Amino acid sequence: MSGKFYIETVGCQMNVLDSELAMSELVKAGYTPAVSKRNADVILFNTCSVRQHAEDKVYSAIGRLKHWKESKPDGILGVMGCMAQKDQDIIFRRAPHVDLVIGPGQLHRLADAVLSIAEDRKPRLEVSLNRIRRPQDEVKASFEQYDPQRFAPMRDNPFQAMVRIMFGCNKFCSYCIVPNVRGPEQSRSPAEIEAEIRQLAEQGCVEMTLIGQTVNSYRFEDAGKILTLADLLERIHPIEKIRRIRFVTSYPVGMDDRLLGTIRDLPKVMPFIHIPAQSGSDTVLQRMRRHYTIEEYRRLIDRIKTAIPGVAVTSDFIVGFCGETDREFEETMSLVKDCRFKNSFIFKYSTRPGTKAAELYPDDVPETVKKERNNRLLELQNGISAELNREFVGKKVEILVEGISKNAVKNLIRIGSGAAETASEETVQLTGRTPCDRIVVFDGPPRLAGRIITVNVVETAPFTLFGEREPQ
Ligand code: 5AD
Ligand code: SF4
Repeated sequence: MSGKFYIETVGCQMNVLDSELAMSELVKAGYTPAVSKRNADVILFNTCSVRQHAEDKVYSAIGRLKHWKESKPDGILGVMGCMAQKDQDIIFRRAPHVDLVIGPGQLHRLADAVLSIAEDRKPRLEVSLNRIRRPQDEVKASFEQYDPQRFAPMRDNPFQAMVRIMFGCNKFCSYCIVPNVRGPEQSRSPAEIEAEIRQLAEQGCVEMTLIGQTVNSYRFEDAGKILTLADLLERIHPIEKIRRIRFVTSYPVGMDDRLLGTIRDLPKVMPFIHIPAQSGSDTVLQRMRRHYTIEEYRRLIDRIKTAIPGVAVTSDFIVGFCGETDREFEETMSLVKDCRFKNSFIFKYSTRPGTKAAELYPDDVPETVKKERNNRLLELQNGISAELNREFVGKKVEILVEGISKNAVKNLIRIGSGAAETASEETVQLTGRTPCDRIVVFDGPPRLAGRIITVNVVETAPFTLFGEREPQ
């Protein structure tokens, strides 16, 4: 089979990884990547269901492709990801020109599904079982573990990669759709993870990010022994070519001293922890079913900062959750003031049908109030981010160079010179990342991409450090 495909990805890192894997599968099946939707024969949307807004955008993008489909009757239009699992055949009803709906637990069937549609033109629905209505084991088996060969050209750059260490989520926070659409928590075996990381290292990867919805819940039983995230970090740390290891996202329960000690003691494990609080109010946390109190969360942040020198802690917050009062919101403001996160992702609550919150509580905080709280919290956080960054002025930082900065790429395109054509010794604006995940912008030759170098920080902004290279 030949033809071109285009995948448009929204959502979290899980989706970015799934798109990479899907691309590899399609290439293996004989397809080639298209540079834009316009000249593709297969268009896939990898979707997110965490907030309504993300779904609305995908439905209107699919709607706009009706003409594409009319002008190209043998084109294939598919919906992958969380919205596919959540809405299932509703997608065909809302957009009859869609050919394929495939959930995140069914990606191993993607190439086969596309090939069969190309042949018989019959729409296909590939989704996993609904976990509420069926026995656990059956449901788990229906979210199939998908472990293909990794394919370097499908990644943004050849020296950084994500590795999934677990599927699904068992936390069932009341606002969240993820446990329904990504299925039950299942940890991959350490042997399988190690083999994948070794393969990536051979392909030239120096930084691995281990991903899962709640990575610190990682548990794998091996010969009667329970292996945890700390065991996994110890196991992969000796892999020679790997220089940096990160992991996201952590859940605020189950960060034990052994794990914190492991992060501190293993030099390749970066001092960076993303550990969402979601709210600073105990009563809101109870309604969210988060299973910790603010006192416990504050103590945890203190423990992390004491245990790991130079650590950066980041968080997520939902504002305007059902019934959130001014007072409850002020408690979130206080938490942010006190914890001094490196940065926070702030979201306005979006009710998700099928979750406990949607069933139990009205979505009663007006949009204007949600917006105002979002802005206030963001302003507070940005001020803290700027202050923390200023502490870096005059310091040396070790960075992994990621490549040419977005601004520099725009300029190169404007003056008609592609990034690849830039002479390797010519100085352009590059970006890199510190161990604590801060972005550093500096001038240097593009050949530095993928290397770990030292720069001096000379200036800062809320989201960026500006550096100068050490004289060589
Ligand atoms: N509304 C708004 N934000 C949400 N998140 C998860 N569910 C919702 C929702 N229904 C946020 C949480 C989570 C992040 C990935 O998305 O903050 O940590
Ligand atoms: Fe959603 Fe909570 Fe699971 Fe995170 S831990 S994916 S917020 S249910």
